[in-house]
Amino acid sequence: MSRFWIDKISSLKPYVPGEQPTSETLIKLNTNEHALPPADAVLTAVCNISGECLRRYPDPAAVRLRSAIAATESVSPEQVFVGNGSDEVLAHLWFAFLKGRRAQTLDTTYGFYPVWAGAYDADLTEVPVLDDFSVDLDALKNSDAAVVLANPNAPTGRALKRDDIASLVDSNSDRLVVVDEAYFGFGAESSVPLVADHDNLIVTRSLSKSHALAGMRVGYAIAQADLIEGLNRVKDSFNSYPLDAVAQAAATAAIEDRQWLKQASQSVCNIRDAMGAGLEAIGFEVLPSHGNFIFTQHKSLPGKQIFDALRAQDILVRRWDKQRIQNWLRISVGTMSQAERLLVVMREIVSAETG
Ligand SMILES: Cc1ncc(COP(=O)(O)O)c(C=O)c1O
Repeated sequence: MSRFWIDKISSLKPYVPGEQPTSETLIKLNTNEHALPPADAVLTAVCNISGECLRRYPDPAAVRLRSAIAATESVSPEQVFVGNGSDEVLAHLWFAFLKGRRAQTLDTTYGFYPVWAGAYDADLTEVPVLDDFSVDLDALKNSDAAVVLANPNAPTGRALKRDDIASLVDSNSDRLVVVDEAYFGFGAESSVPLVADHDNLIVTRSLSKSHALAGMRVGYAIAQADLIEGLNRVKDSFNSYPLDAVAQAAATAAIEDRQWLKQASQSVCNIRDAMGAGLEAIGFEVLPSHGNFIFTQHKSLPGKQIFDALRAQDILVRRWDKQRIQNWLRISVGTMSQAERLLVVMREIVSAETG
């Protein structure tokens, strides 16, 4: 702490992301990166960046990228906002629409929401998820506070259907509903088709998971044009060039390669389902997942013990010291050979402890 800090900085409770160890031998299943490398077209786009392109500032409005997203999602480019990862898009969104206002989220969800609420003085209520980690929609409907939901939810992987989101958005047209679709593409229904008829809905997306571009930092939001204009006002009061030229070119190539998305998502879902079945066979409870991860607990072994035993075998997964989920592990879907190794080690851990 420095004497030059303003009071607000001392009171911030920053988000702590999952560990990014550099060890080559570690099987890293803790931050939900994609199991596969990005599409070849993305790597070609990156290699084709010229010196002239880097000499100049990038397009501040990212027109090509926004047009590619708009074409894919059947919206207009004015309905698309892009940012440096969906975290930045969400941060701008809290500042633009939720600062100093009442908002609701779930008690078991993305840990960054309370951080932004704190940073932007929003009054955030955390509505408990039900015992099976599904969302208590009625509890969210009986309020006039804005709603911020991850769908599919993280870390649980559970997803609401589009009709459920529609009923939430319809239940109170005077409050904003934010649907964070960071994990879109792995089986959940998207709420983007609801945007056309709802001026109180904003959907955010990430290219980190679906398009294997976590290292590139690209996210976007889709909403009616006046909400998007609000985000642009925040962006242009903060950093007019949040997406560099390389990220814009890579993300445009990624969005345009729809075939890659389809095949890569299918392969992640297949590995996820095989991993879930393998864990169930040795006594794990596995929640149905619509993300590139699974959320699981063992019927008799404590989560911390399994986490430590995996770590000792060079496998890193994610666990939180939060009362409701302390026994649960979130395991990212890796390659098939990583999933096989995980299952071998899990079997050893379980049989050593349960006999
Ligand atoms: C629910 C959720 N939203 C948003 C993000 C941020 O993603 P990005 O990499 O686009 O900043 C994450 C990242 O893990 C996430 O889990």
